[in-house]
Amino acid sequence: MPIHTTPTGWVLETGSTGYALGLNSAGLLVHTYWGARLPRPEDYPTPPVPREWASFNGIAHLAREEYPAYAGTQYNEPCFKATFANGVRDAVWVFEGAETTTGAQPQLTLRLRDAAYPLRLALHYRLHEALDLIERWAEIHNPGSEELTLERVFSALWHVPTGESYTLAHLNGKWLDEFHILREELLPGVKALESRRITTSHHHNPWFLLERAAAPASETAGEAWFGVLAWSGSWKLAAEVNDFGSTRVGIGINDWDFVWRLNPGETFTTPASLGGYTQHGRGAASRRLHDYIRRQVLPHGAELHKVLYNSWEATTFNVDEESQIELAELAAEMGVELFVMDDGWFHGRDDDHAGLGDWWPDEGKFPHGLGGLARRVNQLGMDFGLWVEPEMVNPNSELYRAHPDWAIHFPGRVPTQARNQLILNFARSDVQDYIIEKLDRLLTETNIAFIKWDMNRNVSEPGWEGAPGDPREIWVRYVQGVYRVWGTLRERHPRVIWQSCSGGGGRADLGILRLADQVWVSDNTEPCARLSIQEGFSQVFPANVMEAWVTDSGPEYLSLEFRLHVSMCGSLGIGGHLKHWGPTLRAEAAHWIAVYKEVRAIIQQGDQFRLRSPQAYAYSAVQYLAKDQGEGVLFAFRTHLAPPAPTPALRLQGLAPEALYTLEGFPGARSGRSWMEAGVQIELQDFHSTLRRIQRVA
Ligand code: DGJ
Repeated sequence: MPIHTTPTGWVLETGSTGYALGLNSAGLLVHTYWGARLPRPEDYPTPPVPREWASFNGIAHLAREEYPAYAGTQYNEPCFKATFANGVRDAVWVFEGAETTTGAQPQLTLRLRDAAYPLRLALHYRLHEALDLIERWAEIHNPGSEELTLERVFSALWHVPTGESYTLAHLNGKWLDEFHILREELLPGVKALESRRITTSHHHNPWFLLERAAAPASETAGEAWFGVLAWSGSWKLAAEVNDFGSTRVGIGINDWDFVWRLNPGETFTTPASLGGYTQHGRGAASRRLHDYIRRQVLPHGAELHKVLYNSWEATTFNVDEESQIELAELAAEMGVELFVMDDGWFHGRDDDHAGLGDWWPDEGKFPHGLGGLARRVNQLGMDFGLWVEPEMVNPNSELYRAHPDWAIHFPGRVPTQARNQLILNFARSDVQDYIIEKLDRLLTETNIAFIKWDMNRNVSEPGWEGAPGDPREIWVRYVQGVYRVWGTLRERHPRVIWQSCSGGGGRADLGILRLADQVWVSDNTEPCARLSIQEGFSQVFPANVMEAWVTDSGPEYLSLEFRLHVSMCGSLGIGGHLKHWGPTLRAEAAHWIAVYKEVRAIIQQGDQFRLRSPQAYAYSAVQYLAKDQGEGVLFAFRTHLAPPAPTPALRLQGLAPEALYTLEGFPGARSGRSWMEAGVQIELQDFHSTLRRIQRVA
């Protein structure tokens, strides 16, 4: 039984982890344990007797509440803050009951209400037993007759064992420079990470990983507590160490400028947060998330991704049928399976000053529509894909001229443009319906197998005239609108594969991955930078989600082989100007595309092991292994290392210890244990790379 009801609370067990919570004698719902699974339900700690330490530090402050509201002497970061119609600004939880369900994903629901006012809370816990993950979310219901104003509604608070110091790992970056892994010790106080941009952002990602500061995890061993938020809008993570040695991470929709008017009878549901614990290090934490994303989140999780060609870096806005067909013919000869025409194809789009919003083919560039190009691409044996940026509008567009009020703005202020564009208010159902109609028509009229959904700016002046509720609901209703538009199109065109792009990796999260199977990770395609970006991305996301193109960045100092090897670590794409490549380079690329097709099932669907970090070392390596441990691929990369540079030993991971394996380029077979313990040295010159196949032979 994965969910046990005990005399004082509940124990949630996954394959190897346990999580316990219960009601203390003061009636507070408190957390008691998150760590390795224990032999018996009785082994888990029960809620401690509530105590206060001084008149300055009451029970609420000292208890490790599971979902604290701002109330009484609760001075820690709360999960919940609301104001009732009469101005009362706290919430006092009273436990009402619990329900459990069994089945493939057992669930515990705890029901609470406010002690005096009409307010109900449901805390949901869904167990992913095989993946050792717990999914949490909250529902707030107003059963009263007056409105309730929500000011903070987090998805979860994750407590780690008390009395220890922790290191927080998180991802940080900016446009062209995403996904740096930062690690810092948490000291008393609150470390806040957030997005105020109405989207996930390039700057931080809603992911955390905590390690004991005194015993940090490695890639292969050690304890780690980790989690994510499945949300594509503004979010906040508050990692707090209080003055009594309690460390906790609250995560949810950002409460900055946030208000939600909850009318009588209405329910507000938070996005889900997923948490996990492992004793097998950072690599195991990532692999849990990778498997979860592939098995539970992605629309087409088990499908292998096609090798694509994208026209952006070759032709930018200068697309037309002839030039695209020329590229498509060259791409097809190389073994590309999906040809994607990027920006520039729609009405009035000659550069980034015009056109966004007018989603029909430009009459000058495509006088006969997109059908001719799509048909030729299909004749060449490839699928056809298209770029769109549905949330945006250029002031110079038919759409803006017809509906200037559809752009997000504050009345009386000049709306700030970025890349000459404004954001459509996707919180409005008329805007959603317009975009659904336009994109549905495109998808219906043309044989489109793939859509790249881009978003090239973040919000400013987030006003909403005529909002049915509080205009500040835009922070959430906008994202819900994006989900509705995208979800409707997905339902109507279920075979289409979508890619999430926001100027590269600005919208990578588990919310968008319910809609998109792939993410364009960065606009920076310089391969050495990309190695680091890819490592950061892999903390959360599996290789099949990571779209990686070889472009024309880097040929002055990097071979095509190196550049291809970097991109082969994900979902391979080509984005260079193929006419300029010439027959020799195209033939070389064709060779590697063929190799990629042989190994892509291992890369896209297998386990990933980060053997040596490119963010830390100029000599780096990453290994992929099929789930049955029978076949693998090893990539090693050397950028610049000052001489003398001893070649590091690469210790393979995940192999069956007693089985025999060969590694391409090395004579004979060795036991899995030998490859993993003694490792292997592969000499590389500066700016060289290698791909070696691993084969189980006995
Ligand atoms: C930003 C994307 O990241 C690029 O790949 C490209 O699609 C441009 N937008 C097009 O405007």
